[in-house]
Amino acid sequence: MKPVTKVVIPVAGWGTRSLPATKNIPKEMLPVYNKPVIQYVVEEAQSSGMNDVILVTNRDKSVIEDHFDHNLQLEGYLESKGKLDMLKSVKDVAEMVNVIGIRQKEQKGLGHAIMCARSAIGNDPFAIMVGDDVIFSGTPGIKQLVDVAMSENMPVVGVMEVPWDCVDRYGIVDGEEVGLGIYRVNDMVEKPAKDKAPSRLAIVGRYVLTPDIFECLDQTEPGVGGEIQLTDAMRTLCKKRGMMAVKIRGKRFDAGNWPEFLAANIYFGLQDEKVRYPLIEDLKQFLVLE
Ligand code: G1P
Repeated sequence: MKPVTKVVIPVAGWGTRSLPATKNIPKEMLPVYNKPVIQYVVEEAQSSGMNDVILVTNRDKSVIEDHFDHNLQLEGYLESKGKLDMLKSVKDVAEMVNVIGIRQKEQKGLGHAIMCARSAIGNDPFAIMVGDDVIFSGTPGIKQLVDVAMSENMPVVGVMEVPWDCVDRYGIVDGEEVGLGIYRVNDMVEKPAKDKAPSRLAIVGRYVLTPDIFECLDQTEPGVGGEIQLTDAMRTLCKKRGMMAVKIRGKRFDAGNWPEFLAANIYFGLQDEKVRYPLIEDLKQFLVLE
């Protein structure tokens, strides 16, 4: 498989789970500690060798593209005040990756969002990262998939084990473990009822796919929720050329889920020496330990 240098990040969703915070701010711009959620996702892509980031956006999301561009007025101000660390942090974000913005003009599901990126992908393998999922790990989450995709020459999907009561919120994989946390996928199903789920291995928002997924998407009829489901197209791809699943090592936070979002803020705050101790002191006051 050719090296994976392109990633598609669908960001056109409404963010209804995070209202009212997301009434006028894209959910991907909500901060987790001192960076917007989307920056963690893009940093994960960049540190995994992906420099072309295709954002599938809508008319209200241009602020996401702006975040990865220069703000010359701000940079000039920070320079004039000698705030050089801050200047570096805002310049670095602008220079991190190439951003290609593509509009998803109708909301017809994750599969449809990926179809919008077709012309930017061409004939190359590519990654997909869901803009809500922040993964904290030693080896970046998407890199763990790329490594298996390269060695097995197959598409790869990221998974994690979820409680049986939650399987109906995810795409669920039916696979056979062939190495520690590495599975050969037999089949998959989008948001099955608990008694129909083949396992509790849930698809998280990380994928490495080959460009023939677009032909599979062309043939995919609307599925669960009347949407064009990426999972349904991946079933076809899996039957055609095989597929692997990798249990992602690390901690995943779903930024659209308030307890996980708040936990992510605390987690990343605790990583910063300057914030760690005052934060712990504040938290002690909220927590009644029995
Ligand atoms: C999408 C996918 C699903 C996957 C999930 C992970 O669902 O369709 O297969 O498990 O992302 O976050 P959504 O959360 O958009 O309903």
